[in-house]
Amino acid sequence: MEGFNEKEGQLYVDDLPIAEIADTYGTPAYIYSGSRIQKNFNKYADALREGDLICYAVKANSNIHILKRLAQLGSGFDVVSGNELKRCIEAGADPKRVVFSGVAKSSEELELAINEEILSINIESEDEFDRIISISETLNKETKCSIRINPDIPTGSHKYIETGLKTSKFGVDTETLKNISLKAKNREFIKITGLASHIGSQISDNSLIMKSLEHLLTAHKLLLNDGHDINFLDVGGGLGITYKDEIPGDPKSLISEISKEIESLNLHLILEPGRSITGAAGALIAKVEYMKLTDYKNFAIINAGMNDLMRPALYDSWHEVKEIRKSDSDGRLYEIVGPVCESADVLAKERELNISQGDLIAFMDTGAYGSVMSSNYNSRLSVPEIIVDGSSAKIIKKRQSFEESIALEKNL
Ligand SMILES: Cc1ncc(COP(=O)(O)O)c(C=O)c1O
Repeated sequence: MEGFNEKEGQLYVDDLPIAEIADTYGTPAYIYSGSRIQKNFNKYADALREGDLICYAVKANSNIHILKRLAQLGSGFDVVSGNELKRCIEAGADPKRVVFSGVAKSSEELELAINEEILSINIESEDEFDRIISISETLNKETKCSIRINPDIPTGSHKYIETGLKTSKFGVDTETLKNISLKAKNREFIKITGLASHIGSQISDNSLIMKSLEHLLTAHKLLLNDGHDINFLDVGGGLGITYKDEIPGDPKSLISEISKEIESLNLHLILEPGRSITGAAGALIAKVEYMKLTDYKNFAIINAGMNDLMRPALYDSWHEVKEIRKSDSDGRLYEIVGPVCESADVLAKERELNISQGDLIAFMDTGAYGSVMSSNYNSRLSVPEIIVDGSSAKIIKKRQSFEESIALEKNL
């Protein structure tokens, strides 16, 4: 069986009961399904034309074992820091299949990217471009760049994951695009080879991405007029997943629509999906420590907190909560809270569950923006990650020890 599934009242990942994995590795723990990651990746890969590229958004889940698997499947990568680039290299990725987004790339990060000859530095401001020119001249190295445009398109998702509005810090407006294009003209060390945009995350409506494509095509004309040789359009990531009842767009139809639009233009396509590849392939497993039944609310107090899974506190996001061992009797409504001393440490509200002390529960669809957003707040230790293929489980990140967590502060 592939991915998360229920058999005889028990929750499994692939062919392994989650209770067994929790016995071996303890809780809290993130568990991933290798087959589900591969299937999600293939939904994109199978639809691409030759020369098009998926650059998996490393920020969604940057575990190097997951990056290694994706690199082996032929994925490129979208990174937003020098360290994400280093992770990709450690995972065996070809830097020539890496694009680098982000508004605040430091000189050191740009030097690394230029020296590694990555596929594209996605320029997010004119100041950044000036720095890229100066570093590539000093290093005497040709640098391939794309310009990330800001198409001012609202996506209707949470305001923290909107990135293509004119009020957001990402991408450049038309005036800046023109300035960069002119400045890049005939420069010895700079090649503008692409155009990029990423309008946000958890998008359900593919037509919004098609709208951003229109802006890319207009920008493409402008750059061609200035004599640039553009090889690809990068439409970013953003396809949503079903957390509750959302109906996300389908990679295949999106790619086919885009391909039709760019077919005659001799352009390749790049996509930067993150959430839609790893999101539904992961779950956070936690144990009920205490029950606290009050006149106002019933709390299930668990051993995972907002430091392990930040999305509910940060975005008010909803994750399905499943019992690891299901019983047929009726449950109670619970507010599921963690150990962190913050009132925001609520992982789920008003969930009907039949649970008691010591039981295990799973927060579903937490394979993206889950473990990567965790912190050591309240001196809590970062939790392990385990990947399952069929009936075998492999640990891909160890549970942090107290000694490891304090090492940077000791013996100074
Ligand atoms: C530039 C860029 N590309 C791709 C992504 C991935 O988005 P998603 O995980 O929604 O596919 C992000 C996420 O915010 C991003 O900032």
